[in-house]
Amino acid sequence: MKELWIMAVFATVSLPQGDLTTSSAIPTTIDITTLTTDDPITQNTTGLPTTGYPTSITSISLPSTTTTPPLVCINGGELQSEVCICPDEWTGVTCSERNFCNSTKKDGFSFPRTVVDWSAYSEELCDDLPVALAECSNDTGSPQFGLTYKWQCELTLSDILRNISSSPGDLHQLAFSTQILTSQPEQLSADEITTAAQIANTLLQSANITEDITVAAVTTISQLLNAREESTQERDLQNLTETLDKFSLGQYNNLSSVVQPNLVVRSVQVPTDTVGIKFTALTGG
Ligand SMILES: *[C@@H]1O[C@H](CO)[C@@H](O)[C@H](O)[C@H]1NC(C)=O
Ligand SMILES: *[C@@H]1O[C@H](CO)[C@@H](O)[C@H](O)[C@H]1NC(C)=O
Ligand SMILES: *[C@@H]1O[C@H](CO)[C@@H](O)[C@H](O)[C@H]1NC(C)=O
Ligand SMILES: *[C@@H]1O[C@H](CO)[C@@H](O)[C@H](O)[C@H]1NC(C)=O
Ligand SMILES: *[C@@H]1O[C@H](CO)[C@@H](O)[C@H](O)[C@H]1NC(C)=O
Ligand SMILES: *[C@@H]1O[C@H](CO)[C@@H](O)[C@H](O)[C@H]1NC(C)=O
Ligand SMILES: *[C@@H]1O[C@H](CO)[C@@H](O)[C@H](O)[C@H]1NC(C)=O
Repeated sequence: MKELWIMAVFATVSLPQGDLTTSSAIPTTIDITTLTTDDPITQNTTGLPTTGYPTSITSISLPSTTTTPPLVCINGGELQSEVCICPDEWTGVTCSERNFCNSTKKDGFSFPRTVVDWSAYSEELCDDLPVALAECSNDTGSPQFGLTYKWQCELTLSDILRNISSSPGDLHQLAFSTQILTSQPEQLSADEITTAAQIANTLLQSANITEDITVAAVTTISQLLNAREESTQERDLQNLTETLDKFSLGQYNNLSSVVQPNLVVRSVQVPTDTVGIKFTALTGG
């Protein structure tokens, strides 16, 4: 039966040149030394991917239970216990599926390549801070940037807090402005962190909260937890962690249970070591 299988491999290699040029990333050789089974093997070459990624190897199906199919991870995926662990930017069984929004120019702003469910900040600046932000989401079935939010450059965190505690205007505007103002947490002073923490708390407890506002508030908290340790006061850290905990447990509003899974995942991905958030993810989930 092994001979039969080798013939199948040759059939793959000798595909008409025209087919190969449209899918140049598909490997033309397959390492047969990794296969030791004598069982019949089905090679299905009709299901070749059209995306240009070499997923064809997974179409070799081994009916045998004694050998495992040679799963090949691409795009930097790592094979661990027969599962591809993909980098953030890729997903799918072999990491062949795009999990990011391409860098793009939208509404006059340039946004960098961004992983799904993350915010992108514009390259256009105002006082060293991005002027606009957009969320990369897969709501449409393929990763795309959603609405663009522009920040009023002159606004400060204290302005926002004052406004939000009296008669709040446009909550969206205030929430996204806060997110942008805290997007470079290492530059925030202790006072600014305290103010931003109060804003985020207020937003999450607001009666008129929407999913967008929730995302902005929790993203703000993630960013604050990433600020320099010396400017983060113990009591703020405590409050932020408590806020995230309450949010994870759905104690704030009827939105948290809907948006919480994504956001907790996102919080866990905060780049530097952030004990508070990881702890929250473990206890809240
Ligand atoms: C090969 O794969 C295609 C698409 O997945 C499927 O439609 C077709 O039935 C398969 N052919 C065989 C012989 O398994
Ligand atoms: C994303 O950008 C790359 C090149 O940077 C391009 O090859 C690819 O087609 C783009 N994808 C989409 C969906 O625009
Ligand atoms: C995006 O959504 C589509 C449709 O729901 C799904 O098939 C696809 O796997 C998703 N892609 C990512 C990267 O999550
Ligand atoms: C606060 O909100 C109100 C209502 O939208 C708005 O008129 C006012 O300019 C805001 N104040 C500040 C400081 O942003
Ligand atoms: C911390 O939380 C307490 C109660 O949860 C609240 O009264 C206080 O204002 C919060 N402090 C800050 C700085 O947000
Ligand atoms: C919520 O929104 C409604 C209408 O949009 C408004 O009348 C009400 O004052 C808002 N409530 C709060 C607490 O902002
Ligand atoms: C959830 O929020 C929406 C809009 O804010 C409201 O109409 C609905 O009654 C709320 N549901 C619950 C169960 O609180």
